[in-house]
This record gives sequence, structure tokens and C-alpha cells, in this order.
Amino acid sequence: MEFSIKQSSPENQRSACVVLGVFEGGLLAPSAHSFDETANHLLSDLIARGDMTGKSGSSLLIHALSGVAAERVLLVGLGKQNEFGAKQFIDMLRSSFATLNKTICKDAALYLVDLPVKDRDDAWKITQIALAGFESVYRSDGMKSKPADKPALRKILLGCSKKPGSQAKDALHQAVAIAHGMNLAKDLGNLPGNICTPTYLAEQARKLADSHKLKATILEEKDMEKLGMFSLLSVTRGSRQPAKLITLEYKGADKKQKPVVLVGKGLTFDSGGISIKPAAEMDEMKYDMCGAASVLGAMLAVAEMGLKINVVGVIPSSENMPDGAASKPGDIVKSMAGHTIEILNTDAEGRLILCDALTYSARFEPDTVIDIATLTGACVIALGGVATGLFSNQDELAKELLDAGSYTNDKAWQLPLWDEYQQQLDSNFADMQNIGGRAAGSVTAACFLSRFTKEYRWAHLDIAGTAWKSGKEKGATGRPVPLLTQYLIGRAKSI
Ligand code: BES
Ligand code: MN
Ligand code: ZN
Repeated sequence: MEFSIKQSSPENQRSACVVLGVFEGGLLAPSAHSFDETANHLLSDLIARGDMTGKSGSSLLIHALSGVAAERVLLVGLGKQNEFGAKQFIDMLRSSFATLNKTICKDAALYLVDLPVKDRDDAWKITQIALAGFESVYRSDGMKSKPADKPALRKILLGCSKKPGSQAKDALHQAVAIAHGMNLAKDLGNLPGNICTPTYLAEQARKLADSHKLKATILEEKDMEKLGMFSLLSVTRGSRQPAKLITLEYKGADKKQKPVVLVGKGLTFDSGGISIKPAAEMDEMKYDMCGAASVLGAMLAVAEMGLKINVVGVIPSSENMPDGAASKPGDIVKSMAGHTIEILNTDAEGRLILCDALTYSARFEPDTVIDIATLTGACVIALGGVATGLFSNQDELAKELLDAGSYTNDKAWQLPLWDEYQQQLDSNFADMQNIGGRAAGSVTAACFLSRFTKEYRWAHLDIAGTAWKSGKEKGATGRPVPLLTQYLIGRAKSI
């Protein structure tokens, strides 16, 4: 999908469809006024007759208007003017694009940037429009013999009453990069486990590196053995697929500038191992590599934007399968950091691969490390699909990530990492055990990771509830690529 932005008036704009807003009660948005005049007050007439109420979710598609340049006009309901805020704006975008995608329009001109949204500026509105546009045309049916017809919509013009400045143009450019990153994350997430293996992820990382001037390094199991990553390796023992440790380096700033390291859980299928999961919905454990996918997506977005910072992506990737060689409950392994771990449940494998990847990350002398993982079912219970669980050993970093998430509508919510929870990981036989019981499952998982991140500023994003949707709408969401990318954009600005 192609986006552009310019000053233009809707009545003179040639387009397959012009999109205008109407508030509940029939009040036309400012940009719709001149259009209405030129079209002989057709819009006000339709509103007066009750054909368009302006209620949120309502819309009216009008064909063949006389006097105006566009072939159609789509009126979209904005709801009550005094309630028109961020959520209403985003809901309106979703329904506008859904309606446009039911038409044969290949292009559309949206006059929505000038709508007054409480506490939000033009850059925000532009970002949301572009993200909603990409989201609306995303499909993942490439494996069907006869994929459904793709939406016709290709080109979107954002019409503004004033000439858009560099801030507006930057916002659009950045939003498109974020959307590309999200699409990559969705594509990888939606692939089945028999295609998207650790080897496949490593190949995709190499391709991304070749096309976007990144440096890729892939460590094999024998390399990991040399490094003493026996916690990571304990997870792959039951699998026929070799584990990989993928590193991507993006250099957008001086060598001396310390990088942000993104560490993504890349479990390409999590059966639970010997502590095997119940059969229902086990297919969804192909999504257990969505943390890895979001790292690749964010790296793509950063490279596309050419951000002036250094970023490293680290992806420990493995399957978690049961076989005769698989790790067993009660097994004790040694991590790269030297701590011994009693594996009481082989299904708590994410933390086992992440802890070694986090230890490994220290070699990049990071300014900040952020890990992203579909780590705990408990996080789905706590926050559902609305917010990602956020943990950090530094509140300033937590705040920056929360802000980046709320700006991009890719929300996160902070949960505690207090010492009181650490004792749940005490083991009778090793330095720690890999589970902390049912109580506060997401917190104790984060506590486990915190033992390996003492040397740097660190945050952990538990995306178990937000990385994909279940049921009829099953599919990867591309989250938290917007949050991560927005955070990195903010850093590039502040340095
Ligand atoms: N990948 C899962 C977490 C998960 C489960 C994400 C369901 C989304 C939906 C993770 O590896 C896991 O199995 N965690 C266990 C940990 C438990 C054994 C302490 C869990 O959450 O049940
Ligand atoms: Mn598991
Ligand atoms: Zn898992």
C-alpha cells in the first residue's frame, strides 16, 4: 500500500473515493464543508433526510456526485464531537478501511488528518491512519490453493487543509516503516511450525541482513556448547531441528555509541516437551516465536528509517519437543552465566533459552536490553489481549516503553519485579528452579530472567496475550513492533 500526504481540497481532488467525517447530529467535519458547497449541499441534504446519522460505526457511500472531481464519497460517522478521542479515531479508521475494502476503489483520498482529536497531534493521526490502512489489507492465505481476492485498495492520499510540514512527512515515513515491520512479524508468526523452523528463521534473518545492510551472525549448537549455553541447549534436546542463535547488527551511529539489544524468544513450536501441553489449541504454539518475529520486524523498520542509533537483535531459536533425548523434569543444567537450574517443568522453556541469550547480550556492551517473549499463559490471564506485560529493572526505561506503547496504541502495562517474589524460585538442589508455582506466574518468570540481567538496563515484554489472536480471527498481530520501533525513534531523537 502506498501513502502520500499533501495539501488538497476534497472537492477538487481526483480520486476513486473521497472520505469525509460527519459527527453525530449531522455536523460536518471542517473539510467536508467546502465539498458540500460544491456538491450543491448534497451532503447536508442526505444528513437532513436521515441517511447519515454520524453515529460511530455508521457510513454512507455515495456515487456519481456532480460538480466534484472524485468518483465517490464515503461519509464516515465520528460519533459525538465532545467524545471524539484517540480510541474513537482509531475505531473510525478501522470501519472506514473495512468499508473501502468492500468497494472496487484502487485509491482513496482521506480527509481525516484535520479532525480534532483530543490530546493528539497531526503526526499521531497520520501514524494511526497508515497503520490502520496496512492492517486492513493484510492477508495470510498464501497457502490456500485459491486465496480470496485481495482488496483493490493500493494508494491512499492524506489530504490536509494546510501544507504538511516535515514532521507530518516524517511521521508518515515512519508509520510505513512500522507497518512493513509488522507485516514481516505477522508473516513469520503465521507460518506453520513445519516451515518456520529455527533454520528457516536464520535464513530469513540472513536475507533481511543482505537486503538491508545489516550484519548477520548465526551460531550453531556446537558454538553454543563452547559458550556454555547449556540452559538454551537443554530445550532443543528433544527436537530433530537444530537450534540457532541468530544475531543481527544495525549500525546507524558511531561505533562508540552503545547499542540497544533486542532479544526475541524464537520457539518455533512449543509442545511443552516432556511436560507436554494439552491438545486443545496446541497449534497456537507455532506463535511461540513471535518475540523473535517482532525483533526482525523492528530491525527492518529501523533499517528502513535509517535511524541514527545502533541496534542489535539477538534471537535464540529452538523447538520444544518430547523424545528420548529430551530434558526431563528434575534435570539440572548449567547456564552460560554459571548458575545451575533445576528444570521442574520442561514447558517453562522460554526462560531457559532467554537466560543464555541475555547473558550473551552483554558482549555487545549494551546501553539497554529489551527481551520480547510469549513467556507465560499467566500474562494472558492477567492482561488479556489488550496490554503487553512490562517488567524492568529501571523505572525510567519502563516509562519510555509505556509511552511508546500508548503513543502507537500498542499498549503495555507495568507489573512488579519486587524481591519478595524471588524466593518462589528457590530450589533444594540447584541455584534456582525454572518455575515459581501458580501464583504470580508472569512475575516469577520475569524474576527468573532478572537474575541474568544485573549488568545492564533491562526490560522484559511478555507478549503472550498480545502477539496473536485466537478463535475466528486467528492470526499474528505484529505487536509489539510499533512499541519497539517508536521507542527506538524516540531514542534516536534524544541522543
Ligand atoms: N509459550 C508458553 C506461554 C504461553 C502459553 C503463551 C499460552 C501463550 C499462551 C510458555 O513456554 C509456557 O508454556 N509457559 C508455561 C509456564 C509454566 C509451566 C510455569 C505456562 O504459562 O503455562
Ligand atoms: Mn512452554
Ligand atoms: Zn513457550
